[in-house]
Amino acid sequence: MASNQTEPKGHAIIERSTTLLFVLTLFVILIGGLVEIVPLFKVQETVRPVPGMRRYTPLEQIGRNVYTREGCYTCHSQQIRPFRDEVERYGHYSVAAESMYDHPFLWGSKRTGPDLARVGAKYSNAWHVAHMIDPRSVVPVSIMPAYAFLMNKPVDPEQFGAHMEALRKVGVPYTQEMVDRAADDIRAQASGEDADAMLERYPKAKLGDFDGQPDRLTEMDALIAYLQVLGTLAELPPIDTKVEARP
Ligand code: HEC
Repeated sequence: MASNQTEPKGHAIIERSTTLLFVLTLFVILIGGLVEIVPLFKVQETVRPVPGMRRYTPLEQIGRNVYTREGCYTCHSQQIRPFRDEVERYGHYSVAAESMYDHPFLWGSKRTGPDLARVGAKYSNAWHVAHMIDPRSVVPVSIMPAYAFLMNKPVDPEQFGAHMEALRKVGVPYTQEMVDRAADDIRAQASGEDADAMLERYPKAKLGDFDGQPDRLTEMDALIAYLQVLGTLAELPPIDTKVEARP
């Protein structure tokens, strides 16, 4: 008599044995783990150095912390992909060395707003201040939230050396001199005065009052110092995106 119960075949065999399913699942996860972890052992060779890259100044790093805290990365990416449409809109695609001093990475994956990897020097400080206080005042259709409160949040330069020391522990190579001089460097960058030693430590740093309140050091100063440095350090060759007309 023919039974209507056929012998399990192929995938059904795996699905009916918990032990086999467990072992094979583990195997697949292990492969995934290897693919992610093994390249990290070679990361020193993978990241090709690019001239011009340097550590963030303490003021830029404070701005970066504000950017992280406020979740700007949930709407803005900082990675330009190597495709023609991206390169034409934003500039040279991002390279690994440009993120080598980033802890944590702020690459993001969602673009509700534009990519910011090369937004530095695109606008004036005054534009950024107006935009952060009320995005609609400069871009009428903007859906970006306002961050006017940053104008009133003071930055204490004395506190930041300890944070740089912590960053050094996770791999940002700040020197002892950079840590010891953090407070001076913050004041020098935000005022533009006595900035020679600071510029030697951090070449090409933008100087001066960023938020339009010269008598106060605020998180707005720090955030704009950070935005203005994005994409301005790495010296990358120009990319020709013109397509030759076919004969
Ligand atoms: C809810 C999503 C959202 C969040 C969160 C957000 N933005 Fe935006 N951002 C936008 C949109 C949309 C635009 C484009 C319209 C405009 O310029 O305002 C934009 C534009 C910008 C621009 C101008 C970029 C250019 O090339 O024109 C900058 C700079 C910027 N944002 C910085 C920030 C910073 C810094 C933060 C965090 C403090 C932030 N944004 C948080 C959505 C967002």
